[in-house]
Amino acid sequence: MEPIPFHVPSVDEEDIPGVVEVVRGGWVTTGPKCREFETEFGRALGGQLECVAVNSATAGLHLALEAIGLGPGDRVLTTPYTFTATAEVIRYLGADPVFVDVDEATFNLQPSDVRAALKTMTSEQRGSVKAVMPVHYAGLACDMAGFEELGREFGLRIVDDAAHALPTRVDGKPVGQWGDISVFSFYATKTLCTGEGGMAVTADKELAKRMRTMRLHGISKDVFDRYRDSAPSWYYEVVAPGFKYNLGDIAAALGLSQLRRLDKFRDARARIARTYNDGLSALDGVTLPVDAATGDLHSWHLYPLRVDGGRQVRDAFIEELSEAGVSTSVHFIPLHLQPYYRDRYGLQPEDFPVALRCFEAEVSLPIFPAMTDNQMKRVIDAIPAALERARKRATKVARQ
Ligand SMILES: Cc1ncc(COP(=O)(O)O)c(C=O)c1O
Repeated sequence: MEPIPFHVPSVDEEDIPGVVEVVRGGWVTTGPKCREFETEFGRALGGQLECVAVNSATAGLHLALEAIGLGPGDRVLTTPYTFTATAEVIRYLGADPVFVDVDEATFNLQPSDVRAALKTMTSEQRGSVKAVMPVHYAGLACDMAGFEELGREFGLRIVDDAAHALPTRVDGKPVGQWGDISVFSFYATKTLCTGEGGMAVTADKELAKRMRTMRLHGISKDVFDRYRDSAPSWYYEVVAPGFKYNLGDIAAALGLSQLRRLDKFRDARARIARTYNDGLSALDGVTLPVDAATGDLHSWHLYPLRVDGGRQVRDAFIEELSEAGVSTSVHFIPLHLQPYYRDRYGLQPEDFPVALRCFEAEVSLPIFPAMTDNQMKRVIDAIPAALERARKRATKVARQ
């Protein structure tokens, strides 16, 4: 039997005409398709939003922090339960991440825990904190109303890492309409895929302007305008040492055709999550992921199952599932366990006990729109026996 992959991107024949049109049209870098993608993306999120297309979410997060003026000596409060991109961009600007442990039920940063962390800081430390970066883990939104309130209370910017959160809603509003800047990812495994790509979204025109300038070398006009303007096309001004983070039109065309199918993709993912929930709810020793509240939306970028028994059981469970033809992954190895953050900030595994426990239990099951009913059934059927064998293997290792 064919193994079940962890992920298959939903890129297919429907995406091809838009891409071919760009290739035939002769303008393959950032141009009209990118503009159209930005406009349509803003429309899909609703509200008066400025959208800045970039070549990765990492680039978008970097631009976002640069635009809010983050610099050396500043601090940003964020979660250790994330991919390194969230924290590395803080370091790009010479600032430091300060990790706050996550909520055990949702894997997400909580405003109350961030508030408590701020209160334990000296006034000098607190003065250096410029922003909070919540991450909507797996596509389940953080308490954004709570973060906005916290931002107002302490004078902090809220830059949310929305790499997993398209389309995600909380308290009746889509992620993208909250906080100062939200950044989405269109990486190959994400809910909208352009191969590589991302979008920084803000309601603040000044922040958007700065991000647009900095995504293209700090040049005051973008390249497409330079070739269309009535002013001499060769003339431009460099107003800052910017970056090369623009999204090309080939990727933007892919983004546009993906955007048209976003709701369909999301419904397919939600159906897989429901099927897993139904199939696994009676099984002992596992914790199923939390869904969004009624009326809100979980993007179901990931389906993070948790197994009891600790790291050895979890690791053996992954191997057993793999032998049964089910590919899985782990999201994430918390940043405080990674050598760079551990050594730079002198962190111990137990400093963030919830993140550590989540990591030692978590297994991401396959969840992608093209998954068949038969594949879902095979995953569900494989789990009880794989877990049983994993427990036995772990016990044997413990006895040796
Ligand atoms: C939480 C989170 N933030 C940021 C990123 C970075 O996204 P990109 O690959 O588009 O730079 C990822 C990618 O996996 C992620 O999972």
